[in-house]
Formats: sequence, C-alpha cells, structure tokens
Amino acid sequence: MDLSGRVAVVTGSGRGLGLAYAKALAEAGAAVVVNDVDAGAATEAVQEIVAAGGRAVAVVAPVGSTETADALVGKAVEEFGRLDVMVTNAGILRDTVLWKMSDSDFDAVVEVHLRGTFTCARAAAVQMRAQGTGGRLVLISSPAGQRGNFGQGNYAAAKAGIVAMARTWAMELARADVTVNAVVPVAATEMTKTIPVFAPIIEESERTGAPLPEWVRKDEGMGTPEDVASLIVFLASEASAQVTGQAIGIGGDKLALWSHPQEKATAYADGGWSADAIAEAWATGVGAEPETFGIPMPAAPAAKEA
Ligand SMILES: NC(=O)c1ccc[n+]([C@@H]2O[C@H](COP(=O)([O-])OP(=O)(O)OC[C@H]3O[C@@H](n4cnc5c(N)ncnc54)[C@H](O)[C@@H]3O)[C@@H](O)[C@H]2O)c1
Repeated sequence: MDLSGRVAVVTGSGRGLGLAYAKALAEAGAAVVVNDVDAGAATEAVQEIVAAGGRAVAVVAPVGSTETADALVGKAVEEFGRLDVMVTNAGILRDTVLWKMSDSDFDAVVEVHLRGTFTCARAAAVQMRAQGTGGRLVLISSPAGQRGNFGQGNYAAAKAGIVAMARTWAMELARADVTVNAVVPVAATEMTKTIPVFAPIIEESERTGAPLPEWVRKDEGMGTPEDVASLIVFLASEASAQVTGQAIGIGGDKLALWSHPQEKATAYADGGWSADAIAEAWATGVGAEPETFGIPMPAAPAAKEA
C-alpha cells in the first residue's frame, strides 16, 4: 500500500508495537513523527527509519497533556506540512487488584491512555478539519478493555473508554471524512512479557530467534508487533476509507471484528419493574443466560502440548 505524501504521528513509538507501526508506515511512504518519553528509544527509532530510506522526526514528551498533543501535531505540520494519520499508542501498565490500587496507579494509567488518546485525537481532529482533506484516527485499545481482565481495572477502564470514544468520534468526524477506529492488538512485547504464562514463551522465541509456536499465533492470536502493523497501514490507507467506528482485533495469524455491545435479552413490565419482579424474572427471563467476562487465560504450555 502506498502512503506517499501522507504524514503520521505515532505516540509511544520508541519501542514495541509503536515502533513497528512507525516503521511500517514509513516503509509504505508516510512521513512519521515518532514520539516517546524515552529519548534514546525515540532517537534510535528515527535513525532506523531514516537509514532505511524513510522520513521521520522525534518528539520526546509524555503523552497525556494538551501541550504534548499540540507539540506532536505542530511538529508534523512544521516538518512535513500536514497531518493525515494519528495513532494513539503510548501506554503503561500499573496492574493490581481493586483493593490494593492506589490513586496514583489509577490516575497514571488514565492519564496516558484515556487522556492521552483524547488530547492527541482532539489536536489531530482540529488540524484535519482545517486541512479539509479527511484523515485517520487510529486509537489503540486492548482485549482487557473489551472483556475485563484480572488486576487491570484502571487499564480495562481506559481501554474500554477508548473504544467508546472511537465510536463517538466516528459519528462526529464523518462529515470531515476522518475515520476513527479502535485497534485491539495482541503481540509479544515488553508489556506482554509481564504476563506470567507468556513470559517464558516470548523469552524462548527471543533467545532462539524461532517464531512463536503455532498455537500461540492461532489460538491466542499473538505474534510479533509487525503482524499488528499491517492493520495500521491498512487503516492509514485509502483502502480503508469506508471503515469507521469499528473495533478491530489483530495478532499472530488472527484478524477479528469485535462486536458492539447490544441488548441481548429484554423483557417488559407494564408501568415499570419492581425489585421483587426483577428477582422473579431474572432466573428465567432476562438474566437466564448471563454474559461471560474476563480474558480466558491460555493453558500452561506443557498442558497445551500434551
Ligand atoms: N502488547 C500487547 O499485546 C498489547 C495488547 C493490547 C494493547 N496493547 C497496547 O498497545 C500499546 C503499545 O504496547 P506495547 O506492548 O508496545 O508496550 P511497550 O511497553 O513495549 O511500549 C510502550 C511505549 O510507550 C512509551 N510510553 C509510555 N508512556 C508514554 C507517554 N506518556 N508518552 C509517550 N510514550 C510513552 C514507552 O516508553 C514505550 O516505548 C499500548 O497502548 C498497549 O496498552 C498492547
């Protein structure tokens, strides 16, 4: 796919998934503003892209504030003349169960993921509407936001909020030809190495250079950051002009469209429901087939191979 002439910002692109997105966009011809809080990683990412014949500049700043969002969009315009694609990827984890979660654990995650997505998307939308030639907002969510995940109340809330914002902004920006989609990625990175069942598998693959086992790529839908980057290139391209308001999963060998929550069972009581009537109707009516929740954890590798 040819992205020549397009300009993209990728937040948190010094390493991991963001780095793969920035490299893939540059390889397809886009000029890229690389962003990270880690100055060394951001500089190296730019050097790597430029050495491969691409165009990139770095902005070292923490995503979250309006100042950083404005600096990112400002840099795109100053260096490359415009902005076509905003990928809000920067992220952190502060995992712990509800009763142990501190205010700062909660606020830090909300600041980077939820506020960072809001401020960067807003700055991009202002620029794209002024340009008048459409654009792409690619917001990065997570399976945790879709299903909930043990120990990730802060992160799941932020990532679910990001999908809600994608659906809302897809409506608001339709007239400006700006598409807004949420990506639900899974890939082997420093972040997924913090999940105990995946850590030894990822480390083994890094040590030997062998690909992740087929069951990980297929059943778990987890592969390399480059596997996910193809979706970002598609969403940045003309080929996805009609794709908006969607939550799209990708990882390893798997591509998926996530469903939008909708009412699954309904019942009506004339004049409204009393608590007693709800209790009576729950077991046989609306609540008879409750929804599942949480991300199912894979079996331990030994059990899986047996
Ligand atoms: N790895 C996965 O399987 C997975 C799954 C679902 C969602 N995600 C999401 O994808 C994104 C990237 O994840 P990853 O696995 O590559 O993580 P990672 O930890 O490998 O990389 C994240 C990058 O973001 C940078 N960063 C952190 N806070 C920042 C801030 N405030 N401003 C700018 N940069 C900041 C870090 O320095 C790092 O370079 C995150 O939003 C994450 O929640 C990842």
